[in-house]
Amino acid sequence: MVQKVVTGAEIRAMKQALREKIGGAITELHQLSRLEEEDRPVDQVQYGGALFDDEELRNAVDAILDKQLVLGPAGRQLSSQLEQFLNVDRAVLVNSGSSANLVAMAALRSPLLGERALRPGDEVLTVAGGFPTTVNPILQNQCVPVFVDNDVVSGNVRTDLLEEAIGPRTRAVIPVHLYGRTVELGPIVELARSAGIAVVEDACQAHLARIGDRLAGAVGDCGCFSFYPGKNLGAWGDAGALVTDDERIADAVRLLRSHGERPRYHHLVPGMTARLDGLQAAVLRVKLRRLAEATERRRGVARALTDALAPSGVLVPAPVATGGDHVFHQYVIGCDDRDALRDHLSGCGIGNAVHYPTPIHLTPAYAGVGPSPGALPNAEALAGRICSLPMHPSLTAAEIARVAAAVRAFAELR
Ligand SMILES: Cc1ncc(COP(=O)(O)O)c(C=O)c1O
Repeated sequence: MVQKVVTGAEIRAMKQALREKIGGAITELHQLSRLEEEDRPVDQVQYGGALFDDEELRNAVDAILDKQLVLGPAGRQLSSQLEQFLNVDRAVLVNSGSSANLVAMAALRSPLLGERALRPGDEVLTVAGGFPTTVNPILQNQCVPVFVDNDVVSGNVRTDLLEEAIGPRTRAVIPVHLYGRTVELGPIVELARSAGIAVVEDACQAHLARIGDRLAGAVGDCGCFSFYPGKNLGAWGDAGALVTDDERIADAVRLLRSHGERPRYHHLVPGMTARLDGLQAAVLRVKLRRLAEATERRRGVARALTDALAPSGVLVPAPVATGGDHVFHQYVIGCDDRDALRDHLSGCGIGNAVHYPTPIHLTPAYAGVGPSPGALPNAEALAGRICSLPMHPSLTAAEIARVAAAVRAFAELR
């Protein structure tokens, strides 16, 4: 029980002492959990996994105790940290990567962009094989998605087809740096700039991936990031950001993520609730400092997997093109007998997944929005043969060897 306290200074000192006690207890608890984990028999190679530590826990608890509920000081600090990291003028925090995709399109459609604003019926080019959150916002903003086929080697959108698809009604392009491999953006950005077409990079899987002397997300007019827990930079829940050097886009996004409200209870444009909460910002501030190291570990895991898989007959990720990069959000192989390979891997206790089993335009949600089956053959072929193997920064050499041995054993059985 807290005894009668005489001064405010004494209360503050007691609170500080208690916080230190809580911090110490968190560290102890974390150390015990790690010991427990190390001791647990490993029968599965986990497909994904996040590094997380007691500093994040302490930061998160501090954010709660300080009542930093929505954005708050941690949000402001994270914004400037991201701006420095990505070398962009503005990082606007939102509550998911999908929200980043949505506010990007909503900003481009908003009257706040004046003459540059997209109009209903304008066409927006994006990739067929990917995640649908790039497509939803196009439809939600009364524009028309135009699906472009993937490249069978890189898995990314085929840039020559993207260029070919640009027509008189094209007003924006949303390339996706799929799996963490960068799309070759130089020629597209040049073409788009000269034609007044906006480029929205979906960098949700490509944190810290280099494109020439810039980073993914910082090359187009704006870039979208997801900080979903499984991402290379992952929070403890849903989180995201939109980054840009364009103050008008940043301002529109700040307005849109917060009910279109300025000042309070005066709504200038129809907006939404899409702000990041303070707890996620507090966690991400710590994670961001460790991202470069975690990314290097991912690259190391990918190199080791590729070396170990060389004699197995599966298609390993193609080497990176000059000026591009790969941060291995996913390590995706190709195999004609993919489903049998997956059964075999699961039987060996090796986690695996498919990103993604159906091209977006062929999923029921988008029936009628895109072309019919057969029109985008690469996206369809890829969907039938890709398989994501375990990939995370803490994958051990023994686990990598186990994954590779299981894939090789499958090839030998055939
Ligand atoms: C390429 C891509 N874009 C957008 C998103 C959406 O991000 P979130 O899950 O944070 O909404 C994801 C998430 O899986 C993604 O991989």
